[in-house]
Amino acid sequence: MVLTKSFMKHILLGCGLLLGIWGCVSEKDEITPEVCFEQEVLPILVSNCTQSGCHNSQDREADLDLSNYNSILEEVKPGHYQSSAIYQTIISPFGNRMPPSPRKALTDDQIFIIASWIDQGAKNGPCMPVACDTVDVRFSTHVKPVLEKYCTGCHSGKNPQGLLDLTKFDQVKGTVTTGSLLGSIERQTGFSPMPKGSNKLNACLISQIRIWIDKGALNN
Ligand code: HEC
Repeated sequence: MVLTKSFMKHILLGCGLLLGIWGCVSEKDEITPEVCFEQEVLPILVSNCTQSGCHNSQDREADLDLSNYNSILEEVKPGHYQSSAIYQTIISPFGNRMPPSPRKALTDDQIFIIASWIDQGAKNGPCMPVACDTVDVRFSTHVKPVLEKYCTGCHSGKNPQGLLDLTKFDQVKGTVTTGSLLGSIERQTGFSPMPKGSNKLNACLISQIRIWIDKGALNN
């Protein structure tokens, strides 16, 4: 199980610091940083669960809306990830797994983030401010991770939403050329606002994408 594995890593790290077995256990809490709902949990759920026909505020498949904090909280028992409905469905090995096959299961890292957030009380912030790095902005280190976190749950696979697969660099580049990448994330008129059904990306992420575009939108 992923969580155990990750907890094991923390415990081993604690032992490496020669803290002894009790020290190791408390070290776990110190090393697992506070998970920020708005920036870490919500993007995973929006990108992977709220596609058209699924758990968004209009379609409400199975009477479930996973696009905002209050309705997500209905599927969660704060402090108890293992008995939380969201956790149970994302780790289910059987046919009722979410997202359903043929869509890919969430990654171990994504599951770990959700489980940790529930474990920490499923709070809606406040979140630690993050410094915004605008010096050496690259596709691989700044743009791709944002697309993977906020966009590719919808924009990948056999039937990518909007017929746009943002796991493919040439298609990302295509949206730069037409202006729709910036147009959609900045919510300019004439473009569909992205990420669809969710809040605007924060100003730092938008400025990083803008800088990458201004420097030629390289595959660097
Ligand atoms: C919940 C699903 C979903 C998410 C998440 C999502 N998109 Fe989309 N996207 C769509 C759909 C559906 C369309 C087709 C247009 C429409 O229905 O609004 C689309 C269209 C687009 C378009 C074309 C817009 C236009 O007006 O020409 C771009 C560019 C785009 N998305 C980029 C992104 C980016 C970048 C992200 C992440 C920051 C993202 N999308 C996240 C579902 C999504």
